[in-house]
Amino acid sequence: MSQATTEFQVEELKVDGQQEYDSKVFPLILECKTPDADLETALAWVREHSAELDQKAAEHGSILFRNFPTKTDMDFDAFIQACGFPNFQYKDSLSNAVRTNRTERVFTANEAPPEVTIYLHHEMAQTPIYPSKLLFFCEKPAEEGGATPLCRSDVLMEKLYEELPEFAKNCEEKGLKYTNVMPGADDAASGMGRSWQSTWSVDTKEEAEERMTKLGYTWEWLNDGCLRATTPKLPAVRDLGDGRKSFYNQLIAAFKGWKDTRNDPSKAITFGDGTPLDPNDALRAADLAEEITFDVPWQQGDVAIVDNYVAMHGRRTFAGTRKVLASLVAA
Ligand code: FE2
Repeated sequence: MSQATTEFQVEELKVDGQQEYDSKVFPLILECKTPDADLETALAWVREHSAELDQKAAEHGSILFRNFPTKTDMDFDAFIQACGFPNFQYKDSLSNAVRTNRTERVFTANEAPPEVTIYLHHEMAQTPIYPSKLLFFCEKPAEEGGATPLCRSDVLMEKLYEELPEFAKNCEEKGLKYTNVMPGADDAASGMGRSWQSTWSVDTKEEAEERMTKLGYTWEWLNDGCLRATTPKLPAVRDLGDGRKSFYNQLIAAFKGWKDTRNDPSKAITFGDGTPLDPNDALRAADLAEEITFDVPWQQGDVAIVDNYVAMHGRRTFAGTRKVLASLVAA
């Protein structure tokens, strides 16, 4: 995708480690080549190409915008609006991460501490309500580490069918169920520390139960005010509608990472019929995903669009201050 208008020039950028599947690079990287470009001109370009960007995000899995004149959270908000994407609000989501909003649609990405790895996942694929895309904005890269790993789940699905056909078939046919323990108050020290009150947007246990019943969850109240909630059976594989299927779930993140003072990853996930996963299969899936992961090397001002149905994302550990903001797009 090479675009040139008189005022604003964009070219495809190639970087080390970039992948290619069916002649589509992953991720697609678009670089602004106009010196001292101003934000309004960039936004006009984004508006003009919004339909194409939407389509490219689905084909490539992710687009990284480099050297665009996006400098602040407000610029990022304006960029997303220029894309024309409908907002998916955190307060309506059942995400288990603790977040802080900057604008109506921009929030700080998971506030878990730097030494916590956030494993590859599709955003909110462990709940019945999920975004179609997400966008990231690098306000400040970490001094060390802190890349956002991205992995094409359709490519992973093909590898799983080749190497672990029985496991892949079980995922597709049985789906998955997730269990997690939510605290009685937000716990910012955990990657999954959102309280049950905030998760369900309620004040009382009765209201929480009403919400869970409607969504098909089962639950158990624990003595310490925590809630153990189990999802209904959710799909683990998504048909992308163009011949591709993706490993659309939170299996890797749940199996490797749903660990805090309340949660034990070995109890976090089963097949949809309640049968256990073979831990070796889950670990092999995680290793295969890691082998085809691209680490976004954040630079200040970068914007990335990730198609949530096609690509998984996570967060590497880091040192120093890292400010990566996020925004979710409604389906
Ligand atoms: Fe996420």
